[in-house]
Amino acid sequence: MQTQLKEVTLRVFRQDPKREKKHRYQTYKVPYRRGLTVLDSLIYIKENLDPTLSIRYSCRMASCGSCGMMINGLPRLACFTQVTELKTETITVEPLRSFPLIKDLVTSFDDFFKKHHLMLPYLIRRDAEEQENPTHQYLQTDEELERYIQFTYCIRCGLCYAACPVTATDRNFPGPMALAQLYRYYADTRDEGGEERLKVIDNTHGIWRCHFADSCSQVCPKGVDPALAIQLLRRAVMFNNRKR
Ligand code: SF4
Ligand code: FES
Repeated sequence: MQTQLKEVTLRVFRQDPKREKKHRYQTYKVPYRRGLTVLDSLIYIKENLDPTLSIRYSCRMASCGSCGMMINGLPRLACFTQVTELKTETITVEPLRSFPLIKDLVTSFDDFFKKHHLMLPYLIRRDAEEQENPTHQYLQTDEELERYIQFTYCIRCGLCYAACPVTATDRNFPGPMALAQLYRYYADTRDEGGEERLKVIDNTHGIWRCHFADSCSQVCPKGVDPALAIQLLRRAVMFNNRKR
């Protein structure tokens, strides 16, 4: 793409599934300015060219995870993608793959969050009385923190889910985000839910469905490595089963 770019062309997926059986693509021209992101371009379209376009966003700084979409065929955050980095004359934007469509670029995250919830994404403790009236701090060493810290950076944006070839074909597969979050709590030394957690994922639709394509880790905008979490969970399940 030229440095003296005057405008950008966006080819945008359009469909309201309540009223239209088929999708179509609509093309818009957006004036270029330095640092223009795909999200800026879509907001420009909505505010100046076509108010009927549906988009979802909030923070505009890669923190809330709400602006994920397919950009030139890859799952990306629209607010974190500058148009110049794409190096194409026309930018194609589509809704996130493997998520049910609500309208245009907006998809439903209901199943995604239900699957997350099934992974028990919270600390499980047996000492209810101590938790109600703590008598001491629960300190961790740097090494203990290191075991799970990267997984806490997840913003639940769903890019890994959209990139995963297994979620595309198996609706019961929890997906990379959910599995990485299960590992995040499993690896936390304050957690006492170990066996309970492993039972949730030790089945044909769980960790054993992963083909290790590694696409989840490659698209994550926060540097989380869900593929690693899945491998570590497999090791934990095998070790646990051997103990029985
Ligand atoms: S692991 Fe990365 S890509 Fe997946 S939901 Fe979390 S932040 Fe998004
Ligand atoms: S708008 Fe929040 S991550 Fe893009």
